[in-house]
Amino acid sequence: MTSASPTFTSPATEAALAAALLTIRRNVASFPGVFPDDTTVAGRYPLRPARDGIPKGGNQGWTTSFWSGMQWLAWELSGDELFRDSAHIYTVDFARRAQSGEDLDMHDIGFLYSLSSVAEWRLLGSEDARDAGLLAADVLMRRFLEPAGIIQAWGDLEDPDQQGRTIIDSLMNMPLLTWAAEQTGDARYSDAVRRHTAQLREHIIRENDSTFHTFFWNPETGEPLRGSTAQGANDGSSWSRGQAWGVYGFALNYRTTGDERDLEAAWRCADYFLAHLPANLVPYWDLDFGDGDDEPLDSSAGAITACGLLELAEIDPDPIRAERAERAARDMVAALTAHCAPARPEDSDALLLHGVYSLPHGVGVDEGNLWGDYFYLEALARIARPGWKTYW
Ligand code: GLY
Repeated sequence: MTSASPTFTSPATEAALAAALLTIRRNVASFPGVFPDDTTVAGRYPLRPARDGIPKGGNQGWTTSFWSGMQWLAWELSGDELFRDSAHIYTVDFARRAQSGEDLDMHDIGFLYSLSSVAEWRLLGSEDARDAGLLAADVLMRRFLEPAGIIQAWGDLEDPDQQGRTIIDSLMNMPLLTWAAEQTGDARYSDAVRRHTAQLREHIIRENDSTFHTFFWNPETGEPLRGSTAQGANDGSSWSRGQAWGVYGFALNYRTTGDERDLEAAWRCADYFLAHLPANLVPYWDLDFGDGDDEPLDSSAGAITACGLLELAEIDPDPIRAERAERAARDMVAALTAHCAPARPEDSDALLLHGVYSLPHGVGVDEGNLWGDYFYLEALARIARPGWKTYW
């Protein structure tokens, strides 16, 4: 990998953090107790639209916890109680969502509750937040399919189009189950993490270390069937954000499984990702594209991968590999700041420009998005505050 951007010095990290905190402070004032939408439109976050009886600005979809997670991080980074108080308001709403079962028919419950209820429990020890996190973990466990040993990603468990399908993103939903196992001592949760992670390790990574976005198992026999894409360029390509979820997800789950093959899976995903970066180190939306292609970038995939590499730098027992991970992550974060952070915080509501939600669906193309903002802030926090404790 070649580095096109200067490696972060401490003042550069602090300047990037200060700019990010200014933007989050402004967004907290613009969205009091309500949720911004998944992605910006022309650089500004609209209010989350009404859907299925949930009012405008309500807690629906898979991305709302990136907004609460950013505020927990902003509190830790700044010490300003405004961010803690605002984050808590959202955590209370996540508890309501868990109790009512509203819009939870999906695997993204891990994303949703790790960065809301679990974060509050980790930071403040709140019992209400703990109860909500455990309730959410049980809802997620209902999607665990025998005999395949996977958590079904999308849709109703009876939906023939979705039955037996998981997606690489799901690896990031496992830490909620890890946390539930730690809290309760119930091995059902950790067994699910181990089996689901192993199935993805064996089937969603191709021999050349690229990855499928989605993979199907026969729900009756558990037989692995076929890979395909939903948000990538084609069934044989590597959707950049999927590969990024692989880097971070396998690294996080290795903490639980202790299985060396999961650590190797994280590295396989990482090395493929790094080898397919363009010269400026900001990934295109699909890793099939590279320098010279007239295609949009996906800054969020870069931010997620940087967090995954920083996790690898902490957990890899080999100091040479750990240092390589740290250096690559710092270079990528520096590149994101140089090429994707708005020139001035007031220029956009997003911390990172140039993300893509789903190009095949024409959604959020070349816009900011909540998860890109969250993972960029997490990467900055990991770099600026060594010893920062993860919410995952
Ligand atoms: N987890 C959905 C996405 O990355 O778009």
